[in-house]
Amino acid sequence: MTPQITRRKFLQSACITISALTVNMTGLEKALAAASGSGPMAACDVLIIGSGGAGLRAAVTAMKRNPKLRVVVVTKCMPSRNATCMAEGGINGVTDFSKGDSYELHCFDTVKGGDYLVDQTSTLKFCQQAGPAILELDYLGMPFSRTEDGRVKARPFGGASKVRCNYSADKTGHIVAHVCLDEALTHGVKFLMDHELLDIAAADGHCEGAVLRNIRTGEISPVRAKAVVLATGGYTRIFWNRTSTPYISTGDGVAAALRAGVPFKDAEMIQFHPTGVVHGGVLITEAARGEGGYLLNNKGERFMKNYAPAKMELGPRDIVARAIETEIREGRGFGHGLEAYVLLDLVHLGKKKIVNDLPQIRHVGKLFENIDLVEKPMIIRPTAHYSMGGIDVDKFDDMSTVLPGLFTAGEASCVSIHGANRLGGNSLADAVVTGKIAGDGAAAYAGTAEFGAGKRLADLAGQWKSRFVGVTNGGDARQMYAIREEMGAQLWDNLGIFRTQAKLAALADTLDDLQSRYDALRIPNANPVYNSVFTEYVELGNMLQLARAACLAATERKESRGAHTREDFPKRDDANFLKHSMVTMDEGGRLRMGWKAVEIANFKPEERKY
Ligand code: FUM
Repeated sequence: MTPQITRRKFLQSACITISALTVNMTGLEKALAAASGSGPMAACDVLIIGSGGAGLRAAVTAMKRNPKLRVVVVTKCMPSRNATCMAEGGINGVTDFSKGDSYELHCFDTVKGGDYLVDQTSTLKFCQQAGPAILELDYLGMPFSRTEDGRVKARPFGGASKVRCNYSADKTGHIVAHVCLDEALTHGVKFLMDHELLDIAAADGHCEGAVLRNIRTGEISPVRAKAVVLATGGYTRIFWNRTSTPYISTGDGVAAALRAGVPFKDAEMIQFHPTGVVHGGVLITEAARGEGGYLLNNKGERFMKNYAPAKMELGPRDIVARAIETEIREGRGFGHGLEAYVLLDLVHLGKKKIVNDLPQIRHVGKLFENIDLVEKPMIIRPTAHYSMGGIDVDKFDDMSTVLPGLFTAGEASCVSIHGANRLGGNSLADAVVTGKIAGDGAAAYAGTAEFGAGKRLADLAGQWKSRFVGVTNGGDARQMYAIREEMGAQLWDNLGIFRTQAKLAALADTLDDLQSRYDALRIPNANPVYNSVFTEYVELGNMLQLARAACLAATERKESRGAHTREDFPKRDDANFLKHSMVTMDEGGRLRMGWKAVEIANFKPEERKY
């Protein structure tokens, strides 16, 4: 009788343990580990941290490039629960050239959308690869919405001059994630499930691997790798419960890279999506406006006519989010304080359209606000949605960083495609395109590289073990949650849509104070098994470091560009600030500010008009 194979069994068969990696050490690796004094250590060729679209594409590509390599994906939650799943409205890429669209036009829209803080050669390459990546997803079986003649369906999206946002109803990210997961399982990718990243180790001028903690058992292990790919997603949870992203979006990879000496680029560039659910910040997709939804103030006016008259509700996100907040500030919204809002009206689209193309947001509207968007306008407010900043990428062609052996992809990375404001629909394209490039780059590197000695890894693992013992000695977890809540509220007020020198200076002081309170923190429960409070402790430490870096870069960028609005410097200042901010951490843990040139190719910076 043929055994029944379920997806669950398939997934279980893909899960491995750290000890399986240790058992698989070759004689040479064992000898090297013994020589370093670190004892037997787990090892694999390519260690990919993060199981969103970027991490999964990286894994499959690495295995395809060199099937002899041991490729392992580390994930702190089920791969089906990552931030990729949260992108709803579509994936950008030119798949139809019949109406005048081109890769160059996609590139121009992206550069202009990013307010010219965009590296143009990389962006053109990205656009050239985005269209084929969508067709590849189609060949892999992705159930896209279809035109009458069976082609992948696309809808208009913000800041785009042509219709190129390809979609599966309003669940595109969720479906991309599942297609990538199925593909990874089919290729035999192995997973370390329920493992969190604590640190990466830089020694002798390259990346030696990562220190991981098994959340189920509490075991802390160094894992040597010839190449590491950080695909851990963004850091918008620094705004705590004022974001559309999942609880895991705590920037663990970005913070680990920063501690290992790799620059954090454009940290201040954080996207506020115009339409979040008022209570909780969950996403109401831009596709609602792409399909013809209106934004209305308390006078019943489509106020976008005053901010982006040509594009109206489909202006780029920075402009639409600022417009909504301006309406609220000037008394044309509804409600008060954090509960203030404007309306997103879809009623005129009709039930059939909403049920077919926007079913998820109808569900979200009912769930969070008890509003059926078929009958009534939804109440919305901007929500922190995406990190344009991230780990500085040195070379687009392999997504390598300045630290040899360290690669990065997706939202964790900053290869300067999105600049100061990402266009809606470009994030999923970024995940699958850069994931693939990073997987290929990491596999090529691992094919010829040697393992590091592992001494720094062993030291870091030892430090984390001591830290666990040191902090879990009877504190009160509520103090930690108070720090986290205050961090989110303070960031929202002072590093939100409107920023000033005074706000940023006050925020810097508050963050220093929160950091001191964090450093002195003790949490209860020394039991390592499923100690989720310790996981939250680690995440909060990462978020505080990233928040401080973002505050520093926002303070130093004395201009307004894209999502970074300085009310005290309302104009874009190309003469002084057409450059990427680069925050680094010195050995004493202090943050340092630097800058890197923007690469301009075909499109000379000009004033953005929509
Ligand atoms: O609005 C949305 O559907 C979000 C898409 C994205 O961030 O790319």
